[in-house]
Amino acid sequence: MAPDVARIWRRLEVLASDHRTRKPSSYLANPDQLDDRILSVEGLTLDWSLQRVDDEVVKTLVELGDAMSLPSRLRNQFAGDIVNTSEQRSALHTAMRGTPTTQESFDQEARNSRDELIRFATSVLDGHMRSYSQAAFTDVLHIGIGGSHLGQKLLCDALASTRLNVHFLSSSQPVLVHDTLKALHPATTLVIVASKSFTTPETQQNFQFVKNWFAEQTGQRDGLARNLVLISSNAARMKHLPGQHFAVPQEIGGRFSVWSAMGLPVLLALGVQRFEQLLAGASHIDQHVLTAPSSENAAVMFALLALWNVNFIGTTTHIVLSYAPTLRWLPAYLQQLEMESLGKSVTIDGEVVEHDTVSAVWGGEETDGQHAWHQWLHQGTHTYSSDFIANLACQSDEESWILANSLAQHHVSFFGHEDTESPEKHIRGGHPSTLILLDRADARTLGMLLALYEHKVASLGYLWNINPFDQWGVERGKVIAEEINRALTDANHTVTDALLDARVRKILPRQK
Ligand code: F6P
Repeated sequence: MAPDVARIWRRLEVLASDHRTRKPSSYLANPDQLDDRILSVEGLTLDWSLQRVDDEVVKTLVELGDAMSLPSRLRNQFAGDIVNTSEQRSALHTAMRGTPTTQESFDQEARNSRDELIRFATSVLDGHMRSYSQAAFTDVLHIGIGGSHLGQKLLCDALASTRLNVHFLSSSQPVLVHDTLKALHPATTLVIVASKSFTTPETQQNFQFVKNWFAEQTGQRDGLARNLVLISSNAARMKHLPGQHFAVPQEIGGRFSVWSAMGLPVLLALGVQRFEQLLAGASHIDQHVLTAPSSENAAVMFALLALWNVNFIGTTTHIVLSYAPTLRWLPAYLQQLEMESLGKSVTIDGEVVEHDTVSAVWGGEETDGQHAWHQWLHQGTHTYSSDFIANLACQSDEESWILANSLAQHHVSFFGHEDTESPEKHIRGGHPSTLILLDRADARTLGMLLALYEHKVASLGYLWNINPFDQWGVERGKVIAEEINRALTDANHTVTDALLDARVRKILPRQK
């Protein structure tokens, strides 16, 4: 840690010793302070008034960000610098929504591929592009997992409005595949296989399932070609396969890829105009992040507060509570974005980190959680941080009730409830929380919201000096699973690791 950074870090530790125990009610003694803790970017408002910070802490956090060169590292990322150091790649998801890099050829290619994607989607939506059966498509079956699934699922679930019904297959559990396929007819179904690597076992298994299903249902082996779209970064693996192919540049990380050709199911479900509004919203946040000074920069402040909570207040988990109707997939999407990006323990220089990085991220939607796990929120023994996401555009009494509950739960989680008479009713509060208010949960605002979180995550990577764009930790499990699977399906196969082999053999007799 550079000397000036270490000095600031020590200053924060001194400040934190007070803030870890300060009474929550002391934070907003003067409601006038609220204005300093609320940042609005068009229809998206970040209210961090219920965070355990005062002006001194905020100033010192901003100083830390500047000492870590956070603004210039974000600018360099957008420009196309190699920020994914372990894979020697840039991270150019911003270019996919039109935010320019310094490489005009890359930007032009991004524009060309978006135009090609829109041409294809338009032809499907207006019925020109037809199935092998000559029928217009009515359904889309999207096969993908992780970053090739979660953003697409979230946005289709939140904003679908065209005549196409989009269905998703991620896990290759046969019962889930069967339940999905039984509702579809090959004659009117467009199949999308989305995989950056085109080697992910679950996606390849589902692809095989669907090929067999297609052949059984239609009696034709090659009928799928007219109904098939492949989306990948692995041109070599796609090359000899049938169907329409769309490429995703290697510079686009899976969990950052919904803005690229990976967004095809979103484009088909939302239509061209709303998909372009989605991209425009994300690009608007890009410009905000590039130009706003740190203390007025929603992504930078979002990241600095997260660092303060994890490394100084000592929160042990982070909860996303989505009270915006239809954003039920937001917690799952953010779980991958935050934990796969920031669940790291070595710096970009290969040193073991000197402090915690991202805590576990989980969450739930609307008032369901209140009737399931909010007891833990209010009277458990852990200190957590949280984001409450609420939609201000209430069209009905029911939606007003959801908004009222988001504000109530947010308030109680921070201010608690003093009850000296009945200890079992006392709520200690003090859990730092950010309220994100959407003027409306439309395509543009959701594009802004997802881009905001992407830049929060990248900023935390730069602040913790870790690589937010790789995910080496997931590879080892895949190798071991392949070996175990061979032993489960071939009793003569011996697993290399003797202890693991012994454990598998213990299980084998009971495996049916
Ligand atoms: O195993 C993790 C992961 O590689 C994620 O990073 C990725 O989003 C997901 O699996 C799917 O990968 P692919 O798009 O290559 O199928």
